[in-house]
Amino acid sequence: MKLHPTLYGLRDAFRNYCTQYAPDIMAFCSDSLLQDHAERPLSAQSLEVCQKLLKQPPGACATTQSLLDAVRSATPHVCWRQSYTEKDAGIDAFYLSNYGWFNLIAPSGPFVSDTLRLSVGYWEKGLFYPRHWHEPEEIYLTIAGSATFLSDGRDPIDAGAGATICHYSNQPHAADFSNAPLLAAAFWRGRELEAKPIL
Ligand SMILES: [Fe+2]
Repeated sequence: MKLHPTLYGLRDAFRNYCTQYAPDIMAFCSDSLLQDHAERPLSAQSLEVCQKLLKQPPGACATTQSLLDAVRSATPHVCWRQSYTEKDAGIDAFYLSNYGWFNLIAPSGPFVSDTLRLSVGYWEKGLFYPRHWHEPEEIYLTIAGSATFLSDGRDPIDAGAGATICHYSNQPHAADFSNAPLLAAAFWRGRELEAKPIL
């Protein structure tokens, strides 16, 4: 069974974007973004937040518009998930109604890689992602909307569409979505690529 065509379209959109505009992400990924991936179809799963992303998407910029369009096309055909529950500190029902993510490239698929995880996350306006950390190194690519990234060891970064924000292994970071929603990709490399972040 092949993956849904919109997943190939989304991978192509990331490959094209990073090749043209994000040499830092290309270097971070080495061959893992452009290689031929094994494929593992996953059952599609929707979340409450998907309707918000489809009905009223945040604003992209000229270079990220194709990524936003490709994410929205793929949204009904991917497995949207959440890492947290109300038992996690700083996470409540409002947070869980207004956020979600899916893997595009990951050890568990749908495109399979043991060296790269590329996930896409969406947070509605009004959320605060509490301070957390994880072993893999990370680059966020902001696709649409904006957020303030608060990372240990540096000044806050106000990031609009088309920004990259890097975190080294286990660098604590948080994100403030009080002013706008954010659609972003997260590229991870290193060990424990699918472990839950530590809050
Ligand atoms: Fe992170």
